[in-house]
Amino acid sequence: MSFIVAIDGPAGTGKGTITKLISKEMGLVNIDTGATYRCVALYCIENNINVADTEKIIDNLPNINIDMKNENGEQTVYLNGEDVTSKIRTPEVTKIVSEVSSIKEVRFAMVDVQRNLALGKDVIMEGRDITTYVFPNADVKIYMDADEVERANRRYKEMQEKGMEITFEEVLENIQKRDKNDKEKEIGALKIAEDAIYVDTTKLTIEEVKEKIKGIIEEKRGK
Ligand code: DC
Repeated sequence: MSFIVAIDGPAGTGKGTITKLISKEMGLVNIDTGATYRCVALYCIENNINVADTEKIIDNLPNINIDMKNENGEQTVYLNGEDVTSKIRTPEVTKIVSEVSSIKEVRFAMVDVQRNLALGKDVIMEGRDITTYVFPNADVKIYMDADEVERANRRYKEMQEKGMEITFEEVLENIQKRDKNDKEKEIGALKIAEDAIYVDTTKLTIEEVKEKIKGIIEEKRGK
């Protein structure tokens, strides 16, 4: 029997950071579901497939092989055998990923990938539809949220640290667009599951959020 911690929320709430830390500290396998959609987006860019060409994207799904490995809490993402861990975080990928992830057939294929990656393991998974669609019966269900400007600020700092050339306004606009798109998806839209625990991270430090969520998990799992 596997133990599943599911975390959803919009971009920039700290889901990725928190999930990574908790994965290391609690020995849970981290499955970044957004990375699966980012791989599809990267595949489109590298193969000159226009995001608007839905049919071509769907036709290419069988050619997209995604794998993830967790070593010492660090996650490596593979697309058709190539390590694309960094490549999937570029602004070019970020710009089109929400649109790619809105395609129904892409969602069905990626949810299959995500469920297979979790098979038989104790996992912590973060995304947009984990608590509602991928694992609605997860042992722990959390919705992380934060004020929009604070989220844009966090993303902006993160991107600056990586040396990416982008303005705060561009980051905020991208977040607003993605939020809208993520909430209006036909399938797998971002919403708060009825039985999810709501965690507002706007005024909390990473350490505070981590301790809060660890406490919620420990209560369910036993220390
Ligand atoms: O969490 P992220 O920024 O890496 O996610 C990338 C995109 O993928 C984001 O725009 C929403 C989408 N996504 C999704 O639709 N469902 C998920 N479970 C995870 C991400």
